[in-house]
Amino acid sequence: MGTTRGRLHGKVAVLTGIASGIGRATALTFAREGAIVVGGDRDAPGGARTVEIARQAGLSVEFRPLEATDPASVRAFIDGAVADYGRIDALFNNVGVNLVRMLPDVTDEEWDVTVDTNLKSVFLGCRVAIPHMARQGAGAIVNNASNAGLIGRPGDPVYCATKHAIVGLTKSLALGHGPHGIRVNAICPGPIETPMVSSMREASVDRAAFDRNVAGQTALKRIGAAEEVADLVAFLCSDGARFITGAAIPIDGGKAAGMIPGMIVP
Ligand SMILES: NC(=O)c1ccc[n+]([C@@H]2O[C@H](COP(=O)([O-])OP(=O)(O)OC[C@H]3O[C@@H](n4cnc5c(N)ncnc54)[C@H](O)[C@@H]3O)[C@@H](O)[C@H]2O)c1
Repeated sequence: MGTTRGRLHGKVAVLTGIASGIGRATALTFAREGAIVVGGDRDAPGGARTVEIARQAGLSVEFRPLEATDPASVRAFIDGAVADYGRIDALFNNVGVNLVRMLPDVTDEEWDVTVDTNLKSVFLGCRVAIPHMARQGAGAIVNNASNAGLIGRPGDPVYCATKHAIVGLTKSLALGHGPHGIRVNAICPGPIETPMVSSMREASVDRAAFDRNVAGQTALKRIGAAEEVADLVAFLCSDGARFITGAAIPIDGGKAAGMIPGMIVP
């Protein structure tokens, strides 16, 4: 039996939002696949917990503090990783926040926080990473959008707007920087079991009904796992995805494929 190398063996990967949910799962998957993982988050205790979970699994994840909406912080985070490891092969722009609020009730501050966290963070990460990747002549960027980047939803219009914008930005960057060897893709998860979803469950009147409703909106009738999303991100950053760019890939149990009979969109 020979040893098999991970799909990301030796690649330097920079990930945002690794203190929780999809980001944490992706940091662990990347480490398992052989990447050198530099992860950031504004939640330092959560980041330390990810490092500890990795350590207990015999893996290595490096955590650095990051405010993903702050240009100086993003520059220090990405430039720092490049200075320490010599290159950046993969960037996962993952931080995000939901806002379930009908538009007339959205405050100026809520608009700014949602747009800055979801969209400005992607702009800032790409702005710093692309010149490094262009110099290398290679690199893969994955931006975490959402089902809400593919379909409209009545209950969270600002979130939907930011996620559609991420898809547009992703496609444009793929076209603009493909000639430099850079691939840029978006992922569009449906309901995934993370604190983002569990906090909505906790806030709902009937938690069992919440689960039935959310799972029932997918063709596969279940909520996804963060590890399933992490697998897709790892594939997109691997050489196996070398001809994939400018894609917005649903990972949603079929939710965005069309209307499910009896579907109630939140
Ligand atoms: N969970 C889902 O069902 C789902 C579905 C579709 C898309 N998404 C997207 O996946 C991404 C991750 O979501 P999740 O469910 O893992 O959420 P989560 O709340 O579990 O994790 C988000 C992480 O981002 C960090 N973060 C937020 N704002 C930040 C900032 N300004 N600077 C630094 N760190 C910041 C948080 O501290 C947290 O660790 C988001 O972009 C979200 O929109 C999630």
